[in-house]
Amino acid sequence: MANAAVRSNDRDPQGVPSAAAILDALVEAVVVVDRNARIIHANAAAEQFFDLSTTILLGRSLNDFLPADSPLFSLLDQVLKTGAAVSENGVTLSSPRLGNRFVALLMAPLGDDGGGGVAISVLEQSIARKIDNQMLHRGAARSVGAMGSMLAHEVKNPLSGIRGAAQLLEQNVGDAERELTQLICEETDRIVALVDRMEAFADGRPVERAAVNIHQVLAHVRKVAEHGFGRHVRFAEVYDPSLPDVWGNRDQLVQVFLNLAKNACEAASDEGAEVILSTAYRQGVRLAVPGTQTRVHLPLVVSVQDNGPGITEELREHLFDAFVTNKVNGTGLGLALVAKIVNDHGGVVEFQSAPRRTVFNVMLPMRPRMTPTDVPARSRSPSS
Ligand SMILES: Nc1ncnc2c1ncn2[C@@H]1O[C@H](COP(=O)(O)OP(=O)(O)OP(=O)(O)O)[C@@H](O)[C@H]1O
Ligand SMILES: [Mg+2]
Repeated sequence: MANAAVRSNDRDPQGVPSAAAILDALVEAVVVVDRNARIIHANAAAEQFFDLSTTILLGRSLNDFLPADSPLFSLLDQVLKTGAAVSENGVTLSSPRLGNRFVALLMAPLGDDGGGGVAISVLEQSIARKIDNQMLHRGAARSVGAMGSMLAHEVKNPLSGIRGAAQLLEQNVGDAERELTQLICEETDRIVALVDRMEAFADGRPVERAAVNIHQVLAHVRKVAEHGFGRHVRFAEVYDPSLPDVWGNRDQLVQVFLNLAKNACEAASDEGAEVILSTAYRQGVRLAVPGTQTRVHLPLVVSVQDNGPGITEELREHLFDAFVTNKVNGTGLGLALVAKIVNDHGGVVEFQSAPRRTVFNVMLPMRPRMTPTDVPARSRSPSS
């Protein structure tokens, strides 16, 4: 994929950036198509939207990416017929290649009647909605945490009594009954483990952060996976080696990617199970947090992709809520914990899912240019 940072260097002798460089700086995907919907220009965000490089996009028709009944084509027809610009919010673009994307479309004819083509701008609205949803997860995480603390208090003590009693009984019973006392112990252990996981949500302290090399985190996750839940899986890595450090908490980030990798391995198809870990730097992605003045800069994107059957339709809307699961032994706390930790880091987690291609993207902040540990000792303390 072409790098927006490289393209953006195009300037004329007066130092004015070229039109292409300006388009590349936009968050909106912009493509220019001719009257036959053939792509004649694509900006950097369009490459990300289609997940293809310009070299591949140019000359291809939008029909290669979207079905003929896609709302995009009726809007395009309208622009070509009327020669007037149109805009439409809340359009869903669906195709096997793109998955389901919720976007705002803006189309404007180039030349009087669109004879010069049509400029199409595509802005994913789900990003704003995702942040909104993430804010909701905060509430959900808090209530799970409160319940965890309450259960820890009310349930763990009696459970340890039950477990102790079962162990005492075990010494005086025959083999058949011993199986039962062991069952009591195992099941109480399972409840304690569940309550412990729920308690993890109660921790409201601010995250202790440092510069974290995300590739080391992923290497650790991969090693754990390969020796356990991911033994059947072939792992691939698509890393941007020049990726700057994440500003985060290493242990918590390990938890995030262990949970995502575990889900991916559990989902990856039995035949040729494959999980791809990837990292990328997305230039210029600043997200407005709804209802606030805050704009977050989340340029680091870490993805976990699997070739499983995809996420069941009915789970999608509430996927990050606690206790949403369709696994026999699942707690449904994995993704809720992922959402909480990513949130605590000021990041965003999103997913796209289609059969044989489910991707979870975690967008994270970059380490600040100057961190307290970078400041030389002399300038920290003038007296030393
Ligand atoms: N990569 C994936 N492919 C398909 N479905 C997924 C994927 N990741 C998550 N899911 C769905 O989301 C549900 C919730 O995931 P989550 O990690 O929160 O809980 P779980 O995996 O069921 O339980 P636990 O994490 O406690 O083992 C899963 O039960 C599964 O149905
Ligand atoms: Mg899980």
